[in-house]
Amino acid sequence: MPTIPIILDVDTGVDDALAILFAVAHPDIEVLGISCVAGNASLERVVENTLRVLDVAGAPAIPVAAGARRPLISPARSASHVHGEGGLGTVHLPPGERTPEPVNAIELMRRLITDSPRPVTLVALAPQTNLALLLRQYPDLAENIERIVFMGGSASTGNATAVAEFNVWHDPEAAAIVLDAGIPTFMYGLDVFNQVSVDREVAAALEAGDSAYGRVVGALLANRVARSESGSAEYSGLIGDAGALCALVDPEALATRLLPVRVELTGYGRGQTIVDQRRRVGEDIVHGTAGTWEIAEVALDVDAPRYVRLFLDTLGLSAPG
Ligand code: BDR
Ligand code: CA
Repeated sequence: MPTIPIILDVDTGVDDALAILFAVAHPDIEVLGISCVAGNASLERVVENTLRVLDVAGAPAIPVAAGARRPLISPARSASHVHGEGGLGTVHLPPGERTPEPVNAIELMRRLITDSPRPVTLVALAPQTNLALLLRQYPDLAENIERIVFMGGSASTGNATAVAEFNVWHDPEAAAIVLDAGIPTFMYGLDVFNQVSVDREVAAALEAGDSAYGRVVGALLANRVARSESGSAEYSGLIGDAGALCALVDPEALATRLLPVRVELTGYGRGQTIVDQRRRVGEDIVHGTAGTWEIAEVALDVDAPRYVRLFLDTLGLSAPG
């Protein structure tokens, strides 16, 4: 199978770290570069975390660049209650020798897409500010973009608000611009994101194991915090953003539909992805405005144990027996 050339857009972030480790380790994925954006942590932290995670991954030289330090219109908002002040929870990685590119992330993406002999897949695991700026500035690049795979949105409930998922909620205008760019789009939203979880015993065994790499992965998994009904933090074990990379290499594990999707920009619903599941594309009957909305491929269900196995196997970490 030929490799899939991708650019990762990240706000590293506990689960972005898991996604980077997966992308670097998977033989079918070729990471051309990584663009950074403010989201789970400040831009400076995101860049530094990304460089350090590449060290943990033992990655070859992969260009990393800093992009937008805030959303297009909204102010930047903290996610430290989920990802900690530094963005990697309680995981503290040592600084390494890698340095960011001396150009902005938009320019790095432009160069990588222009130079690629094969169409590039953009994998967005963060607020989509960088992608929106890129596509507004250089719309012709769409010709060499295979598709956009994004972690974000929800066809059901939200996490940042009752209806909005964090990445879309953080920069709704950017998500709307990207969705309207006329590029095939795949939405890996909370409907599947919240299902793929590594057992607590497995994460604990990794964290206590002999391998330094496994200890980092176990600690990152243990940092995926969910809120119980009482509001207290509890273990979730979600592989999170790494699931969107699993979707690239093992799409058969997902149930997806082509559906009209719209980003709500106003009022209490700001940041919600409204997914119209009333009809199948190609049917004649279209009520209301959904007939004019962009069509995205939306992941609605996942074989979660299969993705957990794929994740651990790719990282060379078998579940302790
Ligand atoms: C998304 O927001 C961040 O917390 C995670 O990194 C993920 O990309 C989930 O809503
Ligand atoms: Ca993220």
